[in-house]
Amino acid sequence: MKDRLQAISETALAQIKQASGLDQLNDVRVDFLGKKGQLTALLKSMKELAPEDRPAFGQLVNQTREQIEAALEEKKQLLKQAALEQQLKEEVIDVTLPAKKNNVGHRHPNTIAREEVERIFIGMGYEVMEGPEIEYDEYNFEKLNIPADHPAKDEQDTFYISKEILLRTQTSPVQARAMEKGKLPIRMIAPGRVFRSDEVDATHSPSFHQIEGLVIDKNVTFADLKGTLEQFAKELFGEETKTKFRPHHFPFTEPSAEVDVSCFKCGGKGCRFCKGSGWIEILGCGMVHPHVLEMCGIDPTVYTGFAFGVGLERIALLKYEIDDMRLLYENDVRFLKQF
Ligand code: DAH
Repeated sequence: MKDRLQAISETALAQIKQASGLDQLNDVRVDFLGKKGQLTALLKSMKELAPEDRPAFGQLVNQTREQIEAALEEKKQLLKQAALEQQLKEEVIDVTLPAKKNNVGHRHPNTIAREEVERIFIGMGYEVMEGPEIEYDEYNFEKLNIPADHPAKDEQDTFYISKEILLRTQTSPVQARAMEKGKLPIRMIAPGRVFRSDEVDATHSPSFHQIEGLVIDKNVTFADLKGTLEQFAKELFGEETKTKFRPHHFPFTEPSAEVDVSCFKCGGKGCRFCKGSGWIEILGCGMVHPHVLEMCGIDPTVYTGFAFGVGLERIALLKYEIDDMRLLYENDVRFLKQF
């Protein structure tokens, strides 16, 4: 019996030593100390011994059990430590690797240009308004002094939803909407999308953007219009920018003008950018026609005002020296990333 105990003890300790994982170690424990384990079996067979030898042998078995238990515990700690070290090694983070870059989007050149124009006019005390893209013919044309048979209606052919409702061809109808609110004075700009049935080319698109401007107050004169737009051009294109007002015709303003700015590329000497003329056209403007004021419920003998309309894409193309408007709509990230 003693020999068997000795043999069990030796194999158990050897197997514990060899165990290479916690699972394996547990198998060893069950095999020797478990309910059906070898040591338990040996205890059960103690009845084969003479009664007087039993206590001493029992003590021996318990000592062996304690030895095996201690060996198991020691090995368990060793294996646990090794497993932890292995895990740390495998999950190591190389802090010297470059961080993954987040792909952060940014504003479209049209948006940058719009916000720049808004910033300039807000600085002059203007409010930013909005009007509907789907508009009544009445607001887009009639209230702007463009009656049904007016030739200007041909130039601004658009998409009709019904006989009375269309996609606005200009942001000018927001003028009428602002005046009809009946709150004076008015100092506002209205950026927004407009539509025309134009073919797509480098300078045309069936959908583009304008920024409308309107000021109505007592004693507003053409000098105010000139000063305002001169200041606008300087802030937008640089302090040395000169402006030129050329007489023009718009049905809703009288007198009307188109405004050119001195070429910011060559300073006015003439270059490829300004097609040799030294000037670049940027907007239309004029004094609000008295009939327009009347139609919108404002007394033209008391109030006067000026208005202007800027093409937003035109500003973006000029500011960033882009030579094809289509690039602004194609949404090619390689292009957009440059601004
Ligand atoms: N709405 C005009 C256009 O689309 C631009 C314009 C010209 C607006 C003169 C104005 C203005 O407010 O006074 O061609």
